Amino acid sequence: MDKASKALLFSCVLFSICASSFAQTCKSYTFSNNAIYSSCLDLPVLSSFLHWNYSQTSSTLDIAFRHTGASSSKWVSWAINPRGLAMAGSQALVAYEKSGVFHAYTSPIASTSTDLAEGNLSFGVSNLSASFANTEITIFAKLVLSDGETKVNQVWQEGNMVNGVPQIHATSGPNMQSTATLDLLTEQASNTGGGTDSKLRRKNVHGVLSAVSWGVLLPIGAMMARYLKVFKAADPAWFYLHIACQTSAYAVGVAGWATGLKLGIESSGVQYNLHRNIGIVLFSLGTLQLFALLLRPKKDHKYRLYWNIYHHSAGYAVIILSIINVFEGLEILEPGKDWKRAYIAILICLGSIAAMLEAVTWYIVIKRKRVSSDKFQHNINGSAYGVNGHGNGTHQVV
Ligand SMILES: *[C@@H]1O[C@H](CO)[C@@H](O)[C@H](O)[C@H]1NC(C)=O
Ligand SMILES: *[C@@H]1O[C@H](CO)[C@@H](O)[C@H](O)[C@H]1NC(C)=O
Ligand SMILES: *[C@@H]1O[C@H](CO)[C@@H](O)[C@H](O)[C@H]1NC(C)=O
Repeated sequence: MDKASKALLFSCVLFSICASSFAQTCKSYTFSNNAIYSSCLDLPVLSSFLHWNYSQTSSTLDIAFRHTGASSSKWVSWAINPRGLAMAGSQALVAYEKSGVFHAYTSPIASTSTDLAEGNLSFGVSNLSASFANTEITIFAKLVLSDGETKVNQVWQEGNMVNGVPQIHATSGPNMQSTATLDLLTEQASNTGGGTDSKLRRKNVHGVLSAVSWGVLLPIGAMMARYLKVFKAADPAWFYLHIACQTSAYAVGVAGWATGLKLGIESSGVQYNLHRNIGIVLFSLGTLQLFALLLRPKKDHKYRLYWNIYHHSAGYAVIILSIINVFEGLEILEPGKDWKRAYIAILICLGSIAAMLEAVTWYIVIKRKRVSSDKFQHNINGSAYGVNGHGNGTHQVV
């Protein structure tokens, strides 16, 4: 077990290092103009971040609102709405490109009019500017709020520009969930926009359960089977580790699958067919793999070869489809670019660990083959033919 457990430990350590270094939030961001803000928040939708300094004594609020993954043909807006968590009544800061430079201005949004016309806000605004760099649009401003106002309703938005004119933003999905109360003193945003909050939470639960089980645990379980098997000392152990990993992945995965089904039933009108169909195929293949365990022929049974072929191809198909479906889900949920990056990073980590272990496995197998064929030679010379010549199956890589 020695070599095997070392390899496993090493993979786990490598994996956790990789995973932790990509959990990026607003905290680790540095502004190119060296501005420093003491508070920040990763806003729940639209890949946006709010950084701020709030002085209770002067009621001034310095903000930097960042929207990532943008292009210069986008407009962005961040607003405080004294009237509630809605668009109407928003006191908005707006930015978009105008004759080659990003330009910021204020716009009070009276009703559901969409022209984002310039006008004075209900509170003072100074030092308003905007910048665009590295697919990020940032609005900087200093606001003077009313005395003692420490909780505000914030609304943020993004949309396309056509011929220099801001167009109406998307009216579904994340663009309709981009409101939250902001506690200026505690770095907390809570969505109180009616039913969307609990639904968003359930979407996140579905996303996390599914990504962890189908997207991460299953590939790890497959790697255990493939790479621990080669260590003779890990012989029954790899099997139980593989079973333990895959059954827990399956259990969590089914929970994720069920939350997904429920979300699908609830979201009348919106259908994500590809995501749903891959999900159904995954559930079926996963269940089949569970039965495969129970119906497994003995190692030396003549059908064992066919069972192996079936089990491996179904297993690899599940892994590939799972990864595709995690990306599909990320497209639908749009939880922010960092989540996608984090998942890609995990995949790269797992991939490099697998490549490394693949090399180790081949090295061991080839060495073992050489040793046994040396012995074989030796035995022929010593006329003890046939004792070591028959591979016992543990040499096989696949
Ligand atoms: C925010 O406050 C910190 C600490 O008080 C200060 O160093 C920083 O310059 C302030 N940032 C802005 C943009 O005012
Ligand atoms: C905004 O306020 C300034 C000074 O308070 C005033 O001069 C200007 O006309 C106002 N602009 C609009 C569009 O009302
Ligand atoms: C705001 O602008 C004024 C004048 O341009 C400048 O003196 C001041 O430093 C700026 N304040 C901040 C916080 O950027």
